[in-house]
Amino acid sequence: MEARNILRFLFLFLCVALMLLFTWVHLPYAPPYANELLDCATNSPWCTSKNRLQSKQSNLLKEPPIPTSHRNHASDTPHHPLDPLTIQELNKVRSILSSHPLFKSSTYALHSVDLEEPEKALVLKWEKGDQLLPRRASVVARVNGNSNVLTVDLSTGQVTVRETGLPSGYPMMTIEDMTTATWAPLVNGDFNRTIIQRGINLADLACLPISTGWYGKSEENRRLIKVQCYSMEGTVNFYMRPIEGLTVLVDLDTKQVVEISDKGSNIPIPKAANTDYRYSAQELHQVMNLLNPISIEQPKGPSFTIEDEHLVKWANWEFHLKPDARAGVIISRAKVRDSDTGELRDVMYKGFSSELFVPYMDPTDAWYFKTYMDAGEYGFGLQAMPLDPLNDCPRNAYYMDGVFPTADGTPYVRSNMICVFERYTGDIGWRHSESPITGMQIREVRPKVTLVVRMAASVANYDYIVDWEFQTDGLIRIKVGLSGILMVKGTEYDNINQIPNQENLYGTLLSENVIGVIHDHYVTFHLDMEIDGSDNSFVQVNIKKEQTSAGESPRKSYLKAVRNVAKTEKDAQIKLKLYDPSEFHVINPSKKTRVGNPVGYKVVPSGTAASLLDLQDPPQKRGAFTNNQIWVTPYNRSEQWAGGLFAYQSHGEDTLATWSDRDRAIENKDIVVWYTLGFHHIPCQEDFPIMPTVSSSFDLKPVNFFESNPILRIPPNVENDLPVCKPAASG
Ligand SMILES: *[C@@H]1O[C@H](CO)[C@@H](O)[C@H](O)[C@H]1NC(C)=O
Ligand SMILES: *[C@@H]1O[C@H](CO)[C@@H](O)[C@H](O)[C@H]1NC(C)=O
Repeated sequence: MEARNILRFLFLFLCVALMLLFTWVHLPYAPPYANELLDCATNSPWCTSKNRLQSKQSNLLKEPPIPTSHRNHASDTPHHPLDPLTIQELNKVRSILSSHPLFKSSTYALHSVDLEEPEKALVLKWEKGDQLLPRRASVVARVNGNSNVLTVDLSTGQVTVRETGLPSGYPMMTIEDMTTATWAPLVNGDFNRTIIQRGINLADLACLPISTGWYGKSEENRRLIKVQCYSMEGTVNFYMRPIEGLTVLVDLDTKQVVEISDKGSNIPIPKAANTDYRYSAQELHQVMNLLNPISIEQPKGPSFTIEDEHLVKWANWEFHLKPDARAGVIISRAKVRDSDTGELRDVMYKGFSSELFVPYMDPTDAWYFKTYMDAGEYGFGLQAMPLDPLNDCPRNAYYMDGVFPTADGTPYVRSNMICVFERYTGDIGWRHSESPITGMQIREVRPKVTLVVRMAASVANYDYIVDWEFQTDGLIRIKVGLSGILMVKGTEYDNINQIPNQENLYGTLLSENVIGVIHDHYVTFHLDMEIDGSDNSFVQVNIKKEQTSAGESPRKSYLKAVRNVAKTEKDAQIKLKLYDPSEFHVINPSKKTRVGNPVGYKVVPSGTAASLLDLQDPPQKRGAFTNNQIWVTPYNRSEQWAGGLFAYQSHGEDTLATWSDRDRAIENKDIVVWYTLGFHHIPCQEDFPIMPTVSSSFDLKPVNFFESNPILRIPPNVENDLPVCKPAASG
C-alpha cells in the first residue's frame, strides 16, 4: 500500500520531471470522422497516397504516420553563429565545469546553460561558408548558495566568472527545484495532519510550486517558494479542487518547511464532477460531432524549407529560429526579399518574448503573492510541451526540438517544441472589384497564405500559445493565445444569491464552491529592429485634431499626422491612448525610398490591456516593464530580460523601467523596441473546466519600406492549381 502511494506521488509531483523523458504522447482516440473515409477524386493527381491508404481494407486502416521529428540529436553540430548549444557542446560544458575549482567539492546546480551569442557586429558580417564564430556558453549556476554567471569558452575550455552586481533576485528555477519543492511539505507531520483533517487521503494529493514574488525584509536572503495543494480524487483536473487557504513556505535551497499557514479549514473542497477535460473521459453520447473533417492539402509539400536545422526560408522571408529555455522561441536575423530589387533586406535582428507578468487580484493570505513572472521564474521554454500533430499544428508542419540541460548539466531533448507551418484560412491578401457603374469588368483578388512559427507553454495550469506569423506583404503578426485551466479559489458559496457583496469575491463563481479569480496577463516582447541596417530611429506619428480657422473651410476640424522623432528613452515611454492616437514607426533615417520617405516598419497595437496596479505595489515594481506598452532602449547585450536577469524574488531594480529611466540617446542608433501585450481576465463560466482560447496580437508592418505593394505581382488562385478531394461513398 505504502509503495503504491509513493508511486502515485511520484506520478503527480514529478510530472514536471517526467516531461524531461517525455517525447510525446498521442492518445489513440478515434477522431469523430474515423468512419467517413476520405478518398481523392481519381482525376486528382495532387492527392497523396496517404489518403488512399486509409481505404476500407481493415488491414490498411491505420493512422497515417504522425510527423514527429524523432531526430537523434547526439551528432548535431552547429552551422550558424546563433545556433543553440548542441548535445555535444552541452556535454563539453558539463565536463569543463566539473573540473573547475568553483565546482569541485561543492554542491551546485546549473540554472541555465545557453549559447553566449557572439557580438552582433560579427554575426552581421558572418555569411554561410565562413568559419563558425568561436562558441561560448553562458552559464548561470548556484554554487554553495551563491548565484554565479560564467562564460565557458568551448574551444579553449577557459571559464570566466562574472559578478552580476545585482542587489536582489535569484536565477530561474530548475525543474529539480520545482519538483523537490512540491515534495517538501510531506516531511512535516503537521502538514500531513492538516491534509487528513481536511478529509483528503494523502495519496490523492497534488501540489504546485508557486513563486513567492517579493514583499519585504522577512523574505530576503533566502530562496523561497510557496506550495499549495489540491485533491486529485476523482479527476485529473485537480486544479478545480483546491485545498483552499493552505500555504506551505519552503526554502528552495535547504528544502526545509519554513512556515505553514492554514486559513481555509472551513472551506470545502469543490466537487470532482464535470471537471475532467479529456476526450477519453467524456460520455460517448455527449461527444459533439459539429463539423465535417477539414484539412489543408499541400500536394507538392509546403513552400518552406529549413536549412541546417535552424534557418527557415519561405516565400520572400528568411530567418533563424531556435528554441530557448527562458524565452521559448527566438527569431533572429529576419530578412525579407525586396520585390523590386530581389535583395534580402534586414527587418529584425532578434525577437522573443522577454518576460511575462501575471498578477492575481486577490490580496488575501493565500493569494496576494500570486504575481508570476513565467519566463524569469519558471522558464517559458522549459514549460513548452511537445506539440500535438494535427491538433496543435496542421498536417505538413515541421517540428523543431529543444535541447536543454538538467540541473547537473546533462542534456535532454524536448521534442516537437516548436512547429512551423503554412496557414491558408481563406483570408484575402488584397482585392478590388469594379462596380457596374464604371462599366469595367474587373475583379482582382489574391489569396493570403502565411507562415506560422508556434510554441505552446503549459506553465502549470495555464497554456500560452505564442505564434510568429509571417506574411508575404512583409507584415509579422505576433499573437498570444491563452488556454488551459484557471487557477481557482475554493469558497463556501455555491450560489451567488448567498454572497452579500459579489464585488468582494475577487472573481466569478464558476461552479459550486469554485471562484475564478480575476487576473492579468502581460507578455513583453523584445524586438531588436534592424531596418536596412542597425542605426534606426523611433518616430511617434501623432494623429492630431486640427481646428480650421473662421471662414477657412466649411469644415470645422480635420486630422493631421505630426511626426516626433524620439531623442532619448523617455521620449519613447508610450502609454496607448484611444483619444490621442499615434502610429509608432521604426525608421532608418539614412535610407530613403524613391520619393524620399525614410524606410520603416511600424508597431501596430491591437486589443491590449494596461496594468492598473499601484506603481509602488511590490509586484508592480518587479513588473515595472508593464508600466508602458512601448519602450525603446539603445541596444545593450546585457539588457535582454525585461524583468531582470535574476527575476526570481527580485525587488525590481533590474527591469526595463530602470534601464529606460537612464534616458539614453536613441536617435539614429541601434535600438530595441519593447512591446507589452496585455489581457485583463475576469473569468466566466465558459472557462470551466478548461478555457476556450482567447487571443490577442500586435503587428510589425512595413511603412514606406517597399516602393509599392510588394505582392502586386503574386498570382490569383485558379481551380486547376488546387487539389480536390471528395469523400468516398460511405457505407
Ligand atoms: C506524510 O505522508 C507521506 C505520504 O503518506 C509520508 O510518506 C510521510 O512520511 C508523512 N510524513 C510524516 C512526517 O509523517
Ligand atoms: C548596459 O546594461 C547594463 C545592465 O543594465 C548596464 O549596467 C550598463 O551600464 C549598460 N551600458 C550602457 C552603455 O548603457
